[in-house]
Amino acid sequence: MNIGIIGAGHIGSALAVRLTGLGHAVLIANSRGPETLKDVAQKTGATPATAQEAARHGDLIVVTIPLKNIPELPKDLFEGVPAEVPVVDTNNYYPLLRDGRIPELETGDLTESEWVQQHLGRPVVKVFNNIYAQHIEHKGQPAGTPGRISLPVASDDAAAKQKVMALVEELGFDAVDNGSLHESWRQQPGTPAYGADLPAAELKQQLASLGTERTPAQHAQFAANHAAQEREMMKQPQS
Ligand SMILES: NC(=O)c1ccc[n+]([C@@H]2O[C@H](COP(=O)([O-])OP(=O)(O)OC[C@H]3O[C@@H](n4cnc5c(N)ncnc54)[C@H](OP(=O)(O)O)[C@@H]3O)[C@@H](O)[C@H]2O)c1
Repeated sequence: MNIGIIGAGHIGSALAVRLTGLGHAVLIANSRGPETLKDVAQKTGATPATAQEAARHGDLIVVTIPLKNIPELPKDLFEGVPAEVPVVDTNNYYPLLRDGRIPELETGDLTESEWVQQHLGRPVVKVFNNIYAQHIEHKGQPAGTPGRISLPVASDDAAAKQKVMALVEELGFDAVDNGSLHESWRQQPGTPAYGADLPAAELKQQLASLGTERTPAQHAQFAANHAAQEREMMKQPQS
C-alpha cells in the first residue's frame, strides 16, 4: 500500500519502520518540513514529505501528532483524497503534560477521537493509541502465537475499520473491534486496556465489562487514573 504518516516522532517512526519492512511505500511528514527528516528516513526507510503530500499518497493516512496540534493541520490537508482512504488516529489527550485543558474532553461530551474527527472533518479510525511505540516496533508476532498482543480498533466507518484491522493483523497484533468512535473511550488513557498489551480474549472481556455508554462515574475515574499517571510521568527525568 501507499501509506502517508503525518507525525514523525515515536509512533510515526515506529509505524514507518514496520510498514516499510512489510513492503509498503511510506511517506512521512513533520511540522518543520521534509528537509528535517533525513535521520528519520535513514532509520525507517520512509520518504520525507510535506503533510499534504503524505495525505495524498494513496491508500491510507496515519495522523500521529500531539493532540493539541490537530487544529493546526492545514485546512486543505485532505483535498482530493478519496472518501474511502482510511485516516488512522493514534492520538491521546495529555492535559497536564502536553495538551492543556480541552473543554469538550474535560466534560466527556466527546471522546478524544470524536474531537479529532470533528477537527479533521473526516471519519477516523482509532488505533495504536494504547500501545507504546517501542512495542509497535518490536512486539508484533505471527497470528496464533500464544499471548499475542491485541489492539482495539474503533470507528464509525465500517469499511475503513475493516481495512485498518487487516493492517493491524499484518503488523503482528490481533485486531479487536471496539465499536463506534463514541464507544472508543474504552481504549483511552486511564482505562484498564490502556498500555496493558492484553491478548484478545482478555481485551474483549475488559471492553465488555465497561459497557458501551460512559457513565459520569467512569469518566471521573478514568480521568483521575490518567492524571495520576501523568503526575508520575512528570517526576521522571526527561530523556
Ligand atoms: N509515544 C507513544 O508511545 C505513544 C503511544 C500511543 C499513542 N501516542 C499518541 O500518538 C501521538 C504521537 O505521539 P508521539 O509520541 O509519536 O509524539 P512525538 O514523539 O512528540 O512526535 C510528534 C510528531 O508530530 C509532529 N507534528 C507536530 N505538529 C505537527 C503538525 N502540525 N504537522 C505535522 N507534524 C506535526 C512533530 O514534528 P516536529 O518535530 O517537526 O514538530 C513530531 O514529528 C500523540 O497524540 C500521543 O499521545 C503516543
